[in-house]
Amino acid sequence: MTSKAFTISAHGAQMPAIGFGTMDFPSRGAELVAHAIQSGYRLIDTARKYGTEEQVGEGIRASGIAREDLWITTKVTELNARELDFLISAETSLKAMGVGYVDLLLVHWPQPGVPFAETLGALARAKRGGIARHIGVSNFTIAMLEQAVKVCPEPLLTNQVEYHAYLPQTAMLAALKRHGMILTAYCPVARGQLLDDPVITEIAKIRGKTTAQVALRWLVQQPLVAAVPRALSEAHIDQNLDIFDFALDEAEMALIATLRAKQLRLVNPPERAPAWDLETL
Ligand SMILES: NC(=O)c1ccc[n+]([C@@H]2O[C@H](COP(=O)([O-])OP(=O)(O)OC[C@H]3O[C@@H](n4cnc5c(N)ncnc54)[C@H](OP(=O)(O)O)[C@@H]3O)[C@@H](O)[C@H]2O)c1
Repeated sequence: MTSKAFTISAHGAQMPAIGFGTMDFPSRGAELVAHAIQSGYRLIDTARKYGTEEQVGEGIRASGIAREDLWITTKVTELNARELDFLISAETSLKAMGVGYVDLLLVHWPQPGVPFAETLGALARAKRGGIARHIGVSNFTIAMLEQAVKVCPEPLLTNQVEYHAYLPQTAMLAALKRHGMILTAYCPVARGQLLDDPVITEIAKIRGKTTAQVALRWLVQQPLVAAVPRALSEAHIDQNLDIFDFALDEAEMALIATLRAKQLRLVNPPERAPAWDLETL
């Protein structure tokens, strides 16, 4: 897999550290996916819930890059947590994208109404059946993660959760590290809310980078952290991948880490969000 994006090694996988998020896409989504791939992205992050899998498939075919050189992540919603529903959803994702497998299949949200062993068992079955090369979870708390690791017959590669400079994930990072797992950061630029931050802006000026690039660099410079920013403008798409030619020093990393005191959580849908871990600052 060749690209501008660095990869992270975990559980035998080489996962790109930066991926292209595809939630809330416009009708020209396929064009944006093709552009992202041509600009160097190798990971595309989608989900059954986003309704963007068709556009992802179309964008991949239009990109001119071979499918096997790409990393596709998709997710099964909490409404399909029962074994049969789960496997049907995963197969539907493959059909929607026109691919034979995904690189990473995630349980999108925990489903308290179905035993974890059943959902995680279905996830492992998807892997063993060749639907997914790697598997993981999303929006799991630390306690849920521990339980999932225990009951899942196959190793879990990642927990995809909200993470950016304004939201602490210290305990989650430590838990994932214990299991050799990657934290995949969604909303990595806090949906634009940290782009005017004075601390990040100052560092960006010194480094000759944009605030978005510094915010993303801060994430992927941490061990076992990947990020999946979404952007709808070609300029932002290109910019968000162009973060591997500079590094933040220790003082800059520590200074940005202090911003977590803001504790800004953007994604918290009451109908499916778990009781999030209270992070110490
Ligand atoms: N697992 C889950 O439950 C879950 C939940 C939420 C999201 N996600 C995944 O994470 C991805 C990203 O999350 P997100 O879209 O919510 O938040 P995000 O990536 O933090 O923010 C996207 C917003 O930031 C702006 N932006 C991005 N790069 C920029 C740049 N370089 N300069 C200025 N503005 C920039 C975009 O503007 P423009 O569009 O104008 O460029 C867009 O409005 C999603 O697409 C999805 O794949 C997963």
